[in-house]
Amino acid sequence: MNEIVQDYIEDYIRGLIPEGNPLLEAFRVRAAADEIPIIHPEVQNYLEILIKSRNIQSILEIGTAVGYSASVFAAAMDAHGQVDTIERSLKMVSEAEENIGELGIGNQVNLILGDALETVETLTKSYDMIFLDGGKGHYIHLLDACLKRLKPGGVLVSDNVLFKGMIASDALVIRRKITIVKRMRKYLEAISDHPQLMTTVLPLGDGLAVSWMKN
Ligand SMILES: C[S@@+](CC[C@H](N)C(=O)[O-])C[C@H]1O[C@@H](n2cnc3c(N)ncnc32)[C@H](O)[C@@H]1O
Repeated sequence: MNEIVQDYIEDYIRGLIPEGNPLLEAFRVRAAADEIPIIHPEVQNYLEILIKSRNIQSILEIGTAVGYSASVFAAAMDAHGQVDTIERSLKMVSEAEENIGELGIGNQVNLILGDALETVETLTKSYDMIFLDGGKGHYIHLLDACLKRLKPGGVLVSDNVLFKGMIASDALVIRRKITIVKRMRKYLEAISDHPQLMTTVLPLGDGLAVSWMKN
């Protein structure tokens, strides 16, 4: 059961999304079979629209996993678009490298092995979009470093911010997830009240926060 939106609504919305790039579709099926938690189809659809409509050319991603969302982003941008993506698991980075190589988009995706909590601080580039999809308890600790790397007018997109409904309802909180829940609530308050940001939280997938950095 889905705690964010009713299953029938989610199924209906997913049913409206046309079949996309067959190579990416096959990649999604493989990742799902391996139980890798990749972006939900409706989140993918929304992000593709965001990237294309805003002519986004540079993206920083936190949390590569097997490289699925990074591949979607690279495909949504034109051939000059660049994705820098950070992943702390060597196994995941190796798999992502293989997957991205097979798709022939290695020139657009820069895989960075490391813990985002240390790595983001070392980056010097500025990005049109930052996609936060790493450890859910770390978003609050990454916020300042990410904002330093976001261009004015850019967007910070944070996935899983409603975390199976637990963020909005104490009744749904699983005790061992309480730290993540507290930190995510703090994060949502921080991005909602931040003087440099304008934020909306969308009940898409597991909850998606979209924050625009004021010019
Ligand atoms: C939800 S998965 C990412 C899915 C991917 N964005 C996609 O949609 O295809 C989260 C990934 O973040 C990585 N991760 C978690 N905390 C991290 C951190 N502090 N630094 C770098 N990677 C991290 C995990 O190892 C995991 O592979």
